[in-house]
Amino acid sequence: MKLGRIVITEDEIQKRVRELAGEISRDYSGKNPLFISLLKGAFIFMADLVRHISISHEVEFITLSSYTGGIKRNNDVKMIKGLKGSVENKDIIIVDGIVDTGHTLKHLIDILSEKSARSIRVCTLLDKPFSREVDVPVHYIGFNIPDVFVVGYGLDFRERYRNLKYIAELVGAEIRGNEAIDSSEAVRHETSAKESFSRNKRI
Ligand code: IMP
Ligand code: MG
Repeated sequence: MKLGRIVITEDEIQKRVRELAGEISRDYSGKNPLFISLLKGAFIFMADLVRHISISHEVEFITLSSYTGGIKRNNDVKMIKGLKGSVENKDIIIVDGIVDTGHTLKHLIDILSEKSARSIRVCTLLDKPFSREVDVPVHYIGFNIPDVFVVGYGLDFRERYRNLKYIAELVGAEIRGNEAIDSSEAVRHETSAKESFSRNKRI
């Protein structure tokens, strides 16, 4: 498992973040939007984005989990750490690092809608449109990327690589649910599964 090619450079990210912040500042002129960042993956994007927002606004941070281990459990999305203040009648912009299947966002949007937010829009740095399983409206998109596992600029593989200033592909990674596992581990898992299967057969 190692870093592969750079998918988006630092300059490209910074330029696009400024553009998105400009667009949002224009769209929300005269309002006081609440930016809700999804931890941990969006923390760097959020910090850069709001520094280019030119209108008054508020920030909030929330943690959700969308999977358990490496196994896909799409109906198992849980809110771990909730919002502190009320979102009633607020114009919310959810800030995400990457939208993959869409289950995480769908869940969050449902929760915020129940809490009577005035409006909800999503701003994500990266979108994997080919991985989408549920339809979620994503209003501001930094970059569309193919269905490969990427790290950097807040996004991790087992808590590593969040500090990279660019987005890079992870080589030797197999995507399992929203996680990547080492391909060599995948081979080991398959081999031991086969071994136990043949052992069971012998018995
Ligand atoms: P989903 O949209 O519910 O499938 O979940 C998206 C979440 O999965 C993101 O917030 C990330 O935590 C994680 N994720 C999906 N794809 C990647 C990737 O390529 N690199 C790092 N994390 C990813
Ligand atoms: Mg992660």
